[in-house]
Amino acid sequence: MELDLILTNGTIVTAAEVLDPKIEIGVKDGKIVCMGHCLPRRPQTRVLDAEGAYVTPGGVDSHVHLAQPESPDGDNWETGTRGAVAGGTTTVLAFASQSRKDESLFPALEDYHGKSRDQSHCDYGFHFILTNPTPHIVNNELRVLVEREGITSVKLYMTYEPLKLGDRAILDIMMAARQLGITTMIHAENSDMIALITERLEERGLTDPFYHAVSRPQLAEAEATYRAISLAELLDVPVLIVHVSSELAMDHIRAAQTRMLPVHGETCPHYLLLLSERMQAPHSHGAGAVCSPPLRHEPRDVAAIWRGVANGTFTTLSSDHAPTKFDSPYGKTRGLKDGLPVFRDIPNGLPGIETRMPLMFSHATGSKPKISLPRFVQVTATRPAVLYGLGGVKGNIAPGYDADFVVWYPGGHQFAREDRDEGDVDGLRIRARMIHHDCDYTPYEGMWVGNWPRYTVLRGQIVWNRDHGGVVGKKGDGMFLKRKKGSNVTGQTGGLPRGMMDNERDLWL
Ligand code: URP
Ligand code: ZN
Ligand code: ZN
Ligand code: ZN
Repeated sequence: MELDLILTNGTIVTAAEVLDPKIEIGVKDGKIVCMGHCLPRRPQTRVLDAEGAYVTPGGVDSHVHLAQPESPDGDNWETGTRGAVAGGTTTVLAFASQSRKDESLFPALEDYHGKSRDQSHCDYGFHFILTNPTPHIVNNELRVLVEREGITSVKLYMTYEPLKLGDRAILDIMMAARQLGITTMIHAENSDMIALITERLEERGLTDPFYHAVSRPQLAEAEATYRAISLAELLDVPVLIVHVSSELAMDHIRAAQTRMLPVHGETCPHYLLLLSERMQAPHSHGAGAVCSPPLRHEPRDVAAIWRGVANGTFTTLSSDHAPTKFDSPYGKTRGLKDGLPVFRDIPNGLPGIETRMPLMFSHATGSKPKISLPRFVQVTATRPAVLYGLGGVKGNIAPGYDADFVVWYPGGHQFAREDRDEGDVDGLRIRARMIHHDCDYTPYEGMWVGNWPRYTVLRGQIVWNRDHGGVVGKKGDGMFLKRKKGSNVTGQTGGLPRGMMDNERDLWL
């Protein structure tokens, strides 16, 4: 067979192991077709020399907001996915969002297909946000989403007035999800706790960005997380708690996993790297760090989330890229009061689609890694792919998979002087000016990373070449992915909720 591309001289990392550096990757028609020593070169075969660097699977970022109405001048599909490939991500799962007045999901679906078609630099799929789960939607349309559209996951909100669902609505959707093999993602925060604290803070005039964190304590997240797990356990259905920020919530997930329940957790780089003090930055700058759940207060909070990444509690590490500009009429600083943003009015969420992989890779390498390299691969690529029905296609370097990978810089690489600070000998500093999203800031401004993707390869094509051309792929290179049911999503685990008699659930489920 004449190979199109051979990746040579790289140290390949998979979810399981770090491979022998002599192993090459052979690519044909966008797929990895073979791996081994001394693959046959033909005249037409292109050879990409990793020069001794690590090669990891293309990132699968399974939580990305693009072109949603909440951020009207934030990233669209082109600009968001341009950032994705520049940061080593080759697959994004973004949201198609039902508006509360819609009695069918299909207008929103067409809208999001329209916004993304021929626009994406990387492959992509949709999760559906359900805000008005009418019986017709739950009983008929969800099946069409799964079977015809390849959309096999939904996100449900327990908070945010325009989005939130009550427990009964969540249960009804979970019943359908159980039958259809849908993965249910939950934004878990107790909305009444948040509403009460918010009102009382406002009565006292405590409205600057920092009080956003005070209004959403760990308890609000933990209560809703345990409730979501209990709803899922009642019905014997898998659930994924998204953007987990706190140890209290994480402990409920861990405890459920210890009982063999199919409960998954997701966390994000900002909960591993940033603290709530960011919201006290001078002038309006604290607004740039407002997300929900909020950044937590103490270094020990962050250390706990790192433990969850290292010990396997978290299935996925996603960016939750939510690209609201800082300085724009729709931005983080809309509606100032006495020159300061009012936390209730600050759009939630942080941009991070491009920085996720380099930040995490930096903590999987270097002299004091917090996670192993295979663990980095698991949470950034392999496990989200399997969870969301892309197993066998995305998230791994093995024959049969799409040829999506990241070639990092070899050890000892000297980044250009302008990318470093005085005194830095290696690595580089993240600056807003080097990021490719259409956002006017990065919450990681000035943060040091030890490496950056040198090449990003999407289905055998170099789409990012940091030294020669930058984003060299085109918008439209990325395809819409029809996904299978996730293979972690079987439901029917056979487990009994605690306190029920044998067969009790058979009376009604
Ligand atoms: O603060 C956040 N995470 N905003 C984005 C929307 C969401 O809930 O994921
Ligand atoms: Zn959310
Ligand atoms: Zn989100
Ligand atoms: Zn410095």
